[in-house]
Amino acid sequence: MKFSENIQNIVFQYVSDIVTGQEQEAYVIGGFVRDLILGRGSKDVDIVVEGSGIKLARDVAHRIDPKIRVSYFKSYGTAMFRYKDTEYEFVGARKESYNHDSRNPIVEDGTVKDDQLRRDFTINALALSLHQDNYGELIDPFNGYSDLKRGIIRTPRDPKVTFSDDPLRMLRAIRFATQLNFHIDEEAFDAIVSNVERLKIISKERINEELHKIILAPEPSVGFKLLAKSGILSYVFPELSAMQGVEKREGMAHKDNFFHSLKVLDNLARLTDDLWLRWAALLHDIGKPRTKRFVEEHGWTFHGHEYKGAKMIPGIFKRMKLPLNQKMKYVQKMVSLHMRPIILVEDEVTDSAVRRLLFEAGDEIDDLMTLCEADITSKNHEKVQRYLHNYQIVRKKLLEVEQKDRVRNFQPPITGEMIMQAFDIGPSRIIGDIKQAIKNAILDGEISNNFDDAWAFMEGFAAENNLKFVRSKNDITLIQGQAKSEDDR
Ligand code: CTP
Repeated sequence: MKFSENIQNIVFQYVSDIVTGQEQEAYVIGGFVRDLILGRGSKDVDIVVEGSGIKLARDVAHRIDPKIRVSYFKSYGTAMFRYKDTEYEFVGARKESYNHDSRNPIVEDGTVKDDQLRRDFTINALALSLHQDNYGELIDPFNGYSDLKRGIIRTPRDPKVTFSDDPLRMLRAIRFATQLNFHIDEEAFDAIVSNVERLKIISKERINEELHKIILAPEPSVGFKLLAKSGILSYVFPELSAMQGVEKREGMAHKDNFFHSLKVLDNLARLTDDLWLRWAALLHDIGKPRTKRFVEEHGWTFHGHEYKGAKMIPGIFKRMKLPLNQKMKYVQKMVSLHMRPIILVEDEVTDSAVRRLLFEAGDEIDDLMTLCEADITSKNHEKVQRYLHNYQIVRKKLLEVEQKDRVRNFQPPITGEMIMQAFDIGPSRIIGDIKQAIKNAILDGEISNNFDDAWAFMEGFAAENNLKFVRSKNDITLIQGQAKSEDDR
């Protein structure tokens, strides 16, 4: 089979000229060939040469444009350069053998077949020749082409060896199965099951890279079901694994929260590509196993699971080495607020409840609503339509109240600085109390969100709490005005 038409660019052409002239063999190999056959574009090209990859990269780059910068790692024998937003990586064909405690192999020169054999999956071990005599010919000693067409993930060697050598490949198998909607060959899957513990030599960052790719796939549930079935999930993510299962008492069963969460994640995946919102979907019910209660004659409850879940997030993120920054706070916020919007659908709901949610969710209110809509997993079409309609009502209320009161990005009309000046006091608890009282009054709709109303409210608060003003409202406005014009200068 030939793919010469598909590899017609100047880089491949120069590689071909050089290796043919030197009676060497070179191939484009790996993910690029896989994606080419699948009809997916790829910006990463791996070229393997039976000889020095570094020398070939330099020669090719020099012919294209001597100004191209080639970077290389001498110890790995690899070199790469960028040309027209594609990365070309060159490496000498190699044989690898592994030490039990590390993913870093001992490398020896080898043939292209050795190089194909050392790769993770047959679909990633396809090569196209770049030699003029058989330019574009598919070199496929392990039947990767047929696996690609049948949608099978299989290893070129005994899978126990492939996975034990580099346990990250177990996660890669599941990741590719999810991204491509492929089936993992049975023998390979059994080898994953028996090698789960080998994941201990893999860094958490690498594990996360694969988890992120699974989460970002079109149907992430495929990957999480495989992670659960293989035993990897309970090893890397016990809290998620604990959500599996159904318990029944007095004829009443609760739903399987693991499968429910996966359904929510799949639903959300159809609405957004945002990685962290997808994480929030996966984790929105993570507090359920720890809040599960059976109440006689009532059934199962998970009271407060959203707060319990939000509290669990930092521990989970820390252990898994996920980012402990705004991303984590965002996930926490989504988890803790996911039960709130539905309450707002009731007719008698006050503007004050709507304002509070707007204030707490801030700019993330739309994401929260998207999560809630994805959280509808009923199989009953009519119910789904009714719930979606309810959320339309909530969205409308949110919009109306926001247009009226602008609390979404609430900025207090009276700052701590102004309070300190008004009463001539230093930083202290009372300032926080005053700010909080003003904020509550605004959110509860007692006063409008402006300086004059807030000042009048503060006068009342001061009288009740025996606080003496040392500066008037006009003084404060004047000071603020001066400070502002200095800032502007
Ligand atoms: N490879 C491997 N074992 C690994 C990682 C990579 O055998 N643990 C090989 C595979 O042949 C793979 C190639 O190296 O095709 C390039 O790896 P990489 O760029 O990580 O992956 P791709 O297959 O290109 O796929 P993606 O870009 O989606 O990660």
